[in-house]
Amino acid sequence: MNKIKLGILGGGGDSLIGVLHRVASNMYDRYQIVGGVFNPDYEENIKFAKKIGLDTKRVYVDFDTFIEEEIKKPSEERIEVVSVLTPNFLHFPMAKKLLENGFNVICEKPLTTSYDEAVELETLQKRNKLIFAVTYTYTGYPMVRHMKHMIASDEIGEIQKIDVQYYQGWINPVIHDPEIRKNVWRLDPKKAGISSCIGDIGTHAFQMTEYLTGMEVKYILSDLNMLYDDNELDLDGTVLIRFSEKVKGVIRASQIATGEENGLTVAVYGKKGAFKWEQENPNILYHITDDQPKRIIKPGHAYVSEVAADGTKLPGGHPEGIFDAMGNIYKGVAKGLRNETAFDGEYPTMNDGVRGMLFIEKVVESHKNGNIWLSLERT
Ligand SMILES: NC(=O)c1ccc[n+]([C@@H]2O[C@H](COP(=O)([O-])OP(=O)(O)OC[C@H]3O[C@@H](n4cnc5c(N)ncnc54)[C@H](O)[C@@H]3O)[C@@H](O)[C@H]2O)c1
Repeated sequence: MNKIKLGILGGGGDSLIGVLHRVASNMYDRYQIVGGVFNPDYEENIKFAKKIGLDTKRVYVDFDTFIEEEIKKPSEERIEVVSVLTPNFLHFPMAKKLLENGFNVICEKPLTTSYDEAVELETLQKRNKLIFAVTYTYTGYPMVRHMKHMIASDEIGEIQKIDVQYYQGWINPVIHDPEIRKNVWRLDPKKAGISSCIGDIGTHAFQMTEYLTGMEVKYILSDLNMLYDDNELDLDGTVLIRFSEKVKGVIRASQIATGEENGLTVAVYGKKGAFKWEQENPNILYHITDDQPKRIIKPGHAYVSEVAADGTKLPGGHPEGIFDAMGNIYKGVAKGLRNETAFDGEYPTMNDGVRGMLFIEKVVESHKNGNIWLSLERT
């Protein structure tokens, strides 16, 4: 089989997210990692490549050399798609140059550090007709995909309320120490962008609201907490969202929710019923109504939708998790790259990334201007 040649930028041995992408890319035997720049320190870069058993011929000293050398190769040998797994501020310059040179891209969220940069990438991507995925990982879970499918099939009726909460507590030991908090890229505006909590996890919650409902948020109002005067970026935020006058909701995100791990929880309430799902127990989807006992829906059964079945590798009762969710996103991108038939929403797109950046900017602006309602209409 002709595997897709994958390059990786960032995601070295010292990173959080690298292993998730490497495992995910291997999951359906569609990709082969052939090179990249895993670390800005060349020695570390090579050491890591050897550790994962990669031929170091295409492990480059830096990103510019990566582009320079790869474009010299005949197209059938060249890396076809590149995963950008670096801290946020490098997403834009890397993705821009990749698109300019004809590479397809799988980029971590948040897409960029500003809305304008995101729009620039979108223009380039459309012009050059390349595949661009933004890895909102949680859309890869079979039960999330099933929930989207059932909402579209009118299982819960017209939507009337959406509540997405994303609570973590990891930043506590960082934020309460004045020295440590100065040295974390997620709290440095030059590296993270204008937001920490909303940019890092609030954006997942926002994307989930639009992904599940198929609707766009029209207005937001936010209230953020930076906790210390010398800390510029938000650590916690509550955002009211309005899809319309009759469909409203709330996004609650926090990195200072003491004791919480990766607590993403989703609830979508319709006129006839509701779906509830938790990232920490991803193989259980609750369907609740006013007049029936609570139903539990699980992957690996004949009753689930085709899209959920397609993203499940083992029979029911064999728990699959976050690696599998990212694996499903990589599978969706592979289908896109090979022009194969795919289900709706098999990988989050450039539009998700651009809307994510608009959301982050407006949330910060709303808070700064005294918690005012702002439009999320694209200009
Ligand atoms: N989708 C998700 O659920 C999810 C989860 C965690 C992180 N992320 C995103 O992934 C990105 C990386 O986050 P992380 O937590 O892995 O960060 P990290 O700090 O743990 O790792 C960053 C990696 O990038 C490398 N790097 C830095 N500068 C580089 C350069 N110039 N060239 C090549 N490599 C370079 C570092 O050496 C390191 O290996 C962020 O944008 C973050 O928002 C997404």
